[in-house]
Amino acid sequence: MSHWVTIWRAAQLVGVPRGMLQQRVRAGEIELADGLVSTETLLRLYPQARLEESGLLERVVQIRDEAFGRRLRERVLPSQEVLARRLFRQSQELADVQRHLQRYHALVIALRDELRRLHAEAGGDEPRLLALQHQLNDGLARALATESVDVLDVMDDVLKVMSAQVTLKPSGHQFAVEGRDSLLQAGMRAGLQLNYGCGNGSCGMCKVRVTDGEVARILHTDYPLSEAEKAQGYVLACAHTAASAELTIETLEAAGPDDIPPQQLVASVRALRALAPDTLLLHLQTPRSHRLRFLAGQSITLGLPPRGEGDDAHALHPIASCPCDDRNLHFFIPRDDGDAVAARLFAGEIKAGDAVTLWGPSGRFVLAEDTRPLVFAACDTGFAPVKSLIEHALSLDSAPSISLFWLATRPDGHFMANQCRAWSEALDPFEYALSTHADAATGATQMAAAMRADLFDIDCAYYIAGPHAFVRTLAQELSAAGVPASQLHTEASA
Ligand code: FES
Repeated sequence: MSHWVTIWRAAQLVGVPRGMLQQRVRAGEIELADGLVSTETLLRLYPQARLEESGLLERVVQIRDEAFGRRLRERVLPSQEVLARRLFRQSQELADVQRHLQRYHALVIALRDELRRLHAEAGGDEPRLLALQHQLNDGLARALATESVDVLDVMDDVLKVMSAQVTLKPSGHQFAVEGRDSLLQAGMRAGLQLNYGCGNGSCGMCKVRVTDGEVARILHTDYPLSEAEKAQGYVLACAHTAASAELTIETLEAAGPDDIPPQQLVASVRALRALAPDTLLLHLQTPRSHRLRFLAGQSITLGLPPRGEGDDAHALHPIASCPCDDRNLHFFIPRDDGDAVAARLFAGEIKAGDAVTLWGPSGRFVLAEDTRPLVFAACDTGFAPVKSLIEHALSLDSAPSISLFWLATRPDGHFMANQCRAWSEALDPFEYALSTHADAATGATQMAAAMRADLFDIDCAYYIAGPHAFVRTLAQELSAAGVPASQLHTEASA
């Protein structure tokens, strides 16, 4: 018998991006009933789906390897308490099903005996009673016959214990809680823009209301919820995890840059190293109790400690990392004498441990809610906001495909080519093309020609970042080729 699962769960079971399944729904290859897809349909489309190949067993087997130790166990499995609660709940469901089955079985046997008796009373020659008896016996034999189990059904049961499925109201967004993640951490890992502040249970900004399912507290909190709030089911998302396999919570999510509050905080330099002769990687880390909330693709103003009176080095730089790791912020700083921050970083004046003040975030170069294939185009360090957007898109897992075109105006300009290779090797729906041209505008024209060859028969959303000449030229080429302005998102640097 077919089992019904959400698209989100289906993608987990067959190991493909959600966007790919959604595309098949739009193409009519997958039929939904109440938003659910049958495991029978999934197995027809993905006959290779096997528990052994899903990665589930692999993950469990790895846990036995002591070399991975406690850290791996914590990443993959929930705490013992949560695991026990999920297993207990699943056992309750199983016991319930068994009880019902036993009652149905007893009912069918009683009916069969009654039919026999009536048939005997009728002298053994009542054809309708005989036909009913045969129908019942055949049906019983079929129900008791051993059939091969639905492998996706089994995998779904395993997944329910290892990771919980959380549904957000009113947006309907869904995400998985794995390992010992809090609801907040898991939601951010899934690319969702949940409301939060401190991340450690003291500000109350991550308050959510549980409307279905159970949660378990995993962190001591200082923020006092009122008795009325507790009675209504409010909990702090940063301090709780999902204790049941399915959980529904009500919460607000940021819809865009206007919903992200302005912040000021002091981070410290974790690392500073050269990615290429003219490009530095600046890795900042915020204090545990003070994180930077931002959207992928946004920028922040960096302020270096003054060397003396009137010395004020600050500059706006795009964040190159994903908002899902809000403590570790990466920046690709190009050599630029007109940028006071870059000049001091290249002069070697800043070292690990130094304080850097952050103001922001700012910028509207963020992912739009869109189910089209995504095309990213970057020139030089325009790769920074593009990398942040790609990581965010990968977390969201909703784009049917992702393409990256990266132009370098210097021979060493592809300072993260390895990262592109790693994405393309690890992810089916990711492709990239690197190009080099000393002139950004000419490089953009050539890039548009390459896109035309690869993508113009596809309806895509385009994200372009880099120097003005590059962004302007590429956007003009794409507009001239018929891409609507609503599908063009641009970020030009000085
Ligand atoms: S984020 Fe501050 S209490 Fe949860």
